[in-house]
Amino acid sequence: MNYKAVKLVKRPETNIEPDNFSLVELETSEIRDGEILIKQTHMSLDPAMRGWMSAATDSYIAPVELGDIMRSSGVGEVVESKNDQFPVGAKVAGMFGWTEYLVSNGTGVSLMPPELPAEAILSVLALPGVTAYHGLMEIAKPKAGETLLVSGAAGSVGSIVGQIAKAEGLRVIGVAGSDEKCRWLTEELGFDAAINYKTADLETAVREAAPNGIDIYFENTGGPIQHAAFANMNTFGRIVVCGVISDYNSTTPAAGPSWVHVVKKRLSIQGFAMPDQFHRFGELSQKVGAYLMKGQIQYRSHVLEGLESAIEGINLLFTGANEGKLIVKL
Ligand SMILES: NC(=O)c1ccc[n+]([C@@H]2O[C@H](COP(=O)([O-])OP(=O)(O)OC[C@H]3O[C@@H](n4cnc5c(N)ncnc54)[C@H](OP(=O)(O)O)[C@@H]3O)[C@@H](O)[C@H]2O)c1
Repeated sequence: MNYKAVKLVKRPETNIEPDNFSLVELETSEIRDGEILIKQTHMSLDPAMRGWMSAATDSYIAPVELGDIMRSSGVGEVVESKNDQFPVGAKVAGMFGWTEYLVSNGTGVSLMPPELPAEAILSVLALPGVTAYHGLMEIAKPKAGETLLVSGAAGSVGSIVGQIAKAEGLRVIGVAGSDEKCRWLTEELGFDAAINYKTADLETAVREAAPNGIDIYFENTGGPIQHAAFANMNTFGRIVVCGVISDYNSTTPAAGPSWVHVVKKRLSIQGFAMPDQFHRFGELSQKVGAYLMKGQIQYRSHVLEGLESAIEGINLLFTGANEGKLIVKL
């Protein structure tokens, strides 16, 4: 059977361009004992892909090699099986790549409850939720009554960080790039305040939204908000650095805030990368699932149609045109 896949063929210099990828047609091979054929149904697009496309070898994960199928996580269905653990019809998740079909021996493939929608898996229980939970609950260690500021707040990670923080009794302020996203945060997700970083005077807006200062800053974007956050941190505040998407496409990272605040306020700053926690994914996913079951986490998915849509669609993450978790439905 013929199927389509997308290979990385050229590394981006700044922005991701369509000619970084090549759409290819491949043929499925006969599966051997122990193997399964997976038909991918939903594929996740993530900001981290920009890093995986670069040649840098000093990161937490090796780059995608030129000529290889682009790396991604996804959800699919087992359509042929010579492996008793994964019967035909099973719903599975794993690092499947930008491809309609793949053969696997089951390593790194997880069985998913059949009743769980693929959008819920990719938007909450997979990377976004476990990232939000680990960064907030295990690194920042929030206490009820504290104030949290989260950037990229209407995105897949940020929106879950804010909702878990609300469930834990914090005051939550989100920073996002449009009035519509800010409205979603306050009116539907229950954030206490939201700031549109494209139109607000950030220093004033953060001071007004956090009159008692910020105890936890959950950093998803970098950029000017970082300066306003630093300037308003409380003594012994914690800054969790999850991502800095505003720097991913630039050759020169933006200048950061002065470290004088780190000394004066005795701040802790910690970055993290979820691949370090991959062995705990099941456990962390269950913790996030508990909030979801209690109705404390809502999500929205931004679904593109067809494998080819990933080639241009990935840039929605960098323009902010995605409204919710960016997913490709195959
Ligand atoms: N450490 C880890 O293991 C880990 C795991 C997963 C994700 N992450 C990081 O978490 C962050 C959020 O990822 P996500 O998957 O949840 O993506 P997302 O927030 O759903 O989408 C990316 C959002 O970033 C915002 N953005 C883009 N360019 C920006 C800029 N120059 N300044 C400010 N905001 C900008 C846009 O929202 P606006 O409309 O609000 O601008 C866009 O919608 C990323 O930095 C990602 O790399 C880290």
